[in-house]
Amino acid sequence: MTKDLAARRRATLIEVAPRDGFQPIGPFIPTDDKVAFIEAAVAAGLRRIEIGSFVSPAAVPQLRDTAEVLERTRALDGYDPQILVPNARGVALALAAGSTHLVYVISASDAHNRNNVRRDTEVSIREYGEVVRGLPEGVRLRLNLATTFDCPFDGRMEPGFVLDRLARMLDHRADVEVGLCDTTGRADPDHVASLSAACLRRWGGGGTRFVFHGHDTYGLGLANVAAAWHAGIDGFDAAFGGLGGCPFAPGATGNTASEDVAWMFRRMGVETGIDLDRLFALAARAASLPGAQPGGRVRAALSGA
Ligand code: COA
Ligand code: ZN
Repeated sequence: MTKDLAARRRATLIEVAPRDGFQPIGPFIPTDDKVAFIEAAVAAGLRRIEIGSFVSPAAVPQLRDTAEVLERTRALDGYDPQILVPNARGVALALAAGSTHLVYVISASDAHNRNNVRRDTEVSIREYGEVVRGLPEGVRLRLNLATTFDCPFDGRMEPGFVLDRLARMLDHRADVEVGLCDTTGRADPDHVASLSAACLRRWGGGGTRFVFHGHDTYGLGLANVAAAWHAGIDGFDAAFGGLGGCPFAPGATGNTASEDVAWMFRRMGVETGIDLDRLFALAARAASLPGAQPGGRVRAALSGA
């Protein structure tokens, strides 16, 4: 096991700033600018990008132009855009807009699910099951398990409970990518390592893929990425400029910064396919967006600040 893990030399970064990063920003980011950010991310070697969501525009007004963003970027070379959806209506809207890669979000905890999508987790799991059965051929599905480690309302999540809930979701369909989401940023490396390892042991051989989605609220973002990597996970959500934060998870700050994650993997000799100079320039631009609360460390270190 240790030998296999040591032999892995490639990690995939999934850029989530255009969704998780932009969603809490108040001033509307013009569609032209969103498109330009995505083009710059693709030019920096980020191929998988979460570009927006189909949610109630009253809940997240910033992302109301997701259909247009998809339309205007779809021809980019090597680009794999994914779109977050919270319910069957979101799936219908995403498919109508021509999306072929969906991210369905359900929280492990009822309290966060109610705050985020206004229903109990069991109700979301049932609706998810119906959606899965009706999904057209060729549409890829990712399941974001929010509050995998910690809930802003209920605190630390008990691993057995989380795994049981995930099992019910995977019963509907196993060949999905699961995002283990540290929504609040309160996960710690031991918790991330043990839960990641438990998921890989139980489902890793059955076509389910796992990625880690972290926030850097308490400065543990990179430590948690490293813990997930050493546990065997090789896909990571991150946001350029360290932007981010779920408006429905009080107290959570930005995602772990893409440039920090890319920098760490470079230092570890792990290939990510990312052009660091281009990513740093993109992160600096994102950090100066009006209304943004940027994070991360590498950006400041390289600017000499
Ligand atoms: N996309 C766009 N509009 C949607 C929608 C979707 N996925 N789902 C519902 N709506 C619309 C409905 O059509 C309805 O519109 P109307 O008032 O003009 O008739 C309105 O939103 C309310 O619909 P309802 O089914 O009663 O939803 P709700 O009020 O119970 O809210 C959600 C449920 C999921 C739509 C809402 O809580 C939401 O969008 N949450 C956002 C979650 C999010 O983005 N979190 C951050 C990322 S994890
Ligand atoms: Zn998040």
